[in-house]
Amino acid sequence: MKSEHPKPVLLADYRPPEYLIDTVDLDIALDPIKTRVVSKLSIRRNPQSKITGKTPLKLDGELLELESISLNGKKLRRPAYTVSETGLTIPAPPKEPFTLEVTTFVNPEANTALQGIYLSRGVYCSQCEAQGFRRITYFLDRPDVLARYTVRLEADIAMAPVLLANGNPIARGTLAGRKRHYAVWHDPHPKPSYLFAIVGGDLALLASMFTTRSGRKVDLGIYVEHGKEARAHWAMDSLKRAMRWDETRFGREYDLDVFNIVAVSDFNMGAMENKGLNIFNDRLILASPETATDANYESIESVVAHEYFHNWTGNRITCRDWFQLCLKEGLTVYRDQEFSAESRSRTVQRITDVRQLRALQFPEDQGPLAHPVRPESYIEINNFYTPTVYEKGAEVVRMIETILGREKFRAGMDLYFDRHDGQAVTIEDFVACFADASGVDFTEFMRWYTQSGTPELVCDLTFDRRRKAAELTVHQTLKPSPGKAKKQPQFVPLAMALLGENGKEMDIAVEEGKEIRPGVLAVTHHTTKFRFGNVTSRPIPSLLRNFSAPVNVTIALSDDDLAFMMHHDSDLFNRWQASNKYASRSILAHLDAKRPKTLIASKASKFAAALEHALHDSTLDDAYKAELLKLPAVADVAREKAVRVDHAAIFEAHRAFSCAVAEKLADTLDEVYAHTSNGVKFSPNAKSAGRRALRNAALTLMTMRGTGDDYARLEAHYRQASNMTDAAHALVLIAGVDSPARDDVLQDFFERWKDDHLVIDMWFAAQAQSPRTETLDEVKALCAHPLFKITTPNKVRALIGAFAMANPLQFNRADGAGYDFLAEKVLEIDALNPQVAARMLGAFRSYRSLEPKRKGRAKSALKRAAMATRLSRDCREIVSRMLE
Ligand code: ARG
Ligand code: ZN
Repeated sequence: MKSEHPKPVLLADYRPPEYLIDTVDLDIALDPIKTRVVSKLSIRRNPQSKITGKTPLKLDGELLELESISLNGKKLRRPAYTVSETGLTIPAPPKEPFTLEVTTFVNPEANTALQGIYLSRGVYCSQCEAQGFRRITYFLDRPDVLARYTVRLEADIAMAPVLLANGNPIARGTLAGRKRHYAVWHDPHPKPSYLFAIVGGDLALLASMFTTRSGRKVDLGIYVEHGKEARAHWAMDSLKRAMRWDETRFGREYDLDVFNIVAVSDFNMGAMENKGLNIFNDRLILASPETATDANYESIESVVAHEYFHNWTGNRITCRDWFQLCLKEGLTVYRDQEFSAESRSRTVQRITDVRQLRALQFPEDQGPLAHPVRPESYIEINNFYTPTVYEKGAEVVRMIETILGREKFRAGMDLYFDRHDGQAVTIEDFVACFADASGVDFTEFMRWYTQSGTPELVCDLTFDRRRKAAELTVHQTLKPSPGKAKKQPQFVPLAMALLGENGKEMDIAVEEGKEIRPGVLAVTHHTTKFRFGNVTSRPIPSLLRNFSAPVNVTIALSDDDLAFMMHHDSDLFNRWQASNKYASRSILAHLDAKRPKTLIASKASKFAAALEHALHDSTLDDAYKAELLKLPAVADVAREKAVRVDHAAIFEAHRAFSCAVAEKLADTLDEVYAHTSNGVKFSPNAKSAGRRALRNAALTLMTMRGTGDDYARLEAHYRQASNMTDAAHALVLIAGVDSPARDDVLQDFFERWKDDHLVIDMWFAAQAQSPRTETLDEVKALCAHPLFKITTPNKVRALIGAFAMANPLQFNRADGAGYDFLAEKVLEIDALNPQVAARMLGAFRSYRSLEPKRKGRAKSALKRAAMATRLSRDCREIVSRMLE
């Protein structure tokens, strides 16, 4: 809103800070509209910086009402300081260390951007990452300035009986008059300002204890809305398991006497790893069998672990600057994925993670918002909390593990913790630890951090029966991305095997080309060749096993080859991959087939036969079978199509294929559905969740046929559901079809859950995702529903987000009305909360691959948004990158 053309920040411009801040004493008197912040900073020149005689001190600060400022106890008057919209400058500070005391006021109630201190359903809370601390007080608000904080909080006892800050509690008391009280917290660990947090509110506590392996007793607390304590047990259980896991897997122990988590209802993202005081979107804490789905349980487990793991990867060792965001995020996602894999099924976890990567990161990497895992320039850093930084960042760490093997990878991590504890570092520092611990050269590997785009590996396998030899040629193509026209080949660890006639892995000898480790090839050039000996029969290539690198692989395989892999591949990830490929390829073939009916019928029956075989395989668990039964989504097929995408045509082909498969599999699906029926008491564990997943996947497929019986079964599924997983699954399906029970079921769900602000989001989302033609009108009407609130990010995501991101058919309406609606809502949200608005714009990230008509309409919607007079820096950056 400030400047029309803000200047980008460049990685190349990084300079160490000129001043350092060693200690911070904050005294915060909480008030809904006039919170007073007194900040006492001990400041000194940075010996590392080339500071001259007259280097001004420039503190960041936004939306602050300055009351007074004093230096070494003496009140300052202009021009000894100046203030602007972005900060406070002291033109000539003393050479010797000095103390600065500043008093400012902020208004939590008016804070709809949810950065700095704000109110969420009457609870004071804060969010400082990336640059929210400057909305609390003037500061060197950058991650390479590490200080020790002592915080005194004061508030009305009635409104905020609970007062929390980072670190350990050291004092508390009641003030004269007995209406207000205070609490003092001290954090002994130096930290950057983005990890600062406070909470004040009337909250219920679920308390527990954890003893670290060296015997430190830690008080654990999860603070939630009164009456919701019972819904915090799963989060507490996840927290303890995560704490233990980090000790055994990475040797990392917790380092304070208390660890608190607070669940709040208004939150821009998922959660935040503030030192000793994690603040969470309540959606990622609260769960009970009646109110949360298995997917909710899983995300709670992984996000609680993620934020906890940040204590070492992010907090003890932090980022030198925001370009290094993946240093903490990619690594911590990798760690939480590993934790989930070991808590559940490793293969299913891998499939889930790869689905997510392909659904969110691949399109980003192939569209106008593409950026390297470590970007080199940004206008608004909050726009870079992306799937590329997080999920691709995790894949890059996983590749390091694949290259080194588990043990050397651990040695590199140990060295990293040893060498950099207490520092703010870079990706180079991180990777150097693996190089130093293993002797492996990672110079070329660094391109994963600096080049955007998804590498395409076009592979070709030839077989010479007489010489019992096979040759694999891998052509690596790297398409240009914004700001990167020419790219260097990347180092790809390609895990692979050749399957013999009997379906077993052949014991091949690599005669030409480099093997990193047995079964992992090093793809290093634009064209890399490998020759294998001892190949006794025509081999079927199983490439990119366990998805060993974030790339796309193409190789000529027939439908029969895919069916063969679905039966035999010993790499279960690739077995799923074969099935997924088979299905999406069949749907795509339908799109331009002359006689689609005949084609679908034959493809579907062969595919169904292969699926049937897997469903009867007793060595596969239910969760895995569920993944096989979940056919690729419309959006997945659209992504495969890549150009001239027409969502209506894909939706029809998808429906025809799914329906045909469901008809062929009728008996098996009936059997699966009956076999997996409930009866046992609910448990969120992987095994029970897998059973529900399989049953619900069967239900989805059967519903695709759309017969009266199918709709009756669906309604019964909803009515008989004894847990939210089944109820919500049925709700989404029913909301998506014109079954006679639709209105009744939606009404029933609404009546049951209208007082639960979390559960009701499922009701909004179910309607927003419906592929029925009425959906857009209904979504517009729901925007005026009394339970919808445009200032609450969870509501915006449930209704507008679900429509734009999870409803490819209706968002991409041929008339462009979906695009217009989104653009209009984004402008409305932008005036309140730029971060959330900019995220919603992400729904346009693949607009260039649409067929010409839709593409034109999406582009005009974007252009109209670009012309808006009051556009935030956040949205301005996204829109201009999209239209570039
Ligand atoms: N560091 C948080 C995480 O664990 C993300 C918070 C980012 N928030 C923001 N407003 N940019 O992923
Ligand atoms: Zn994180």
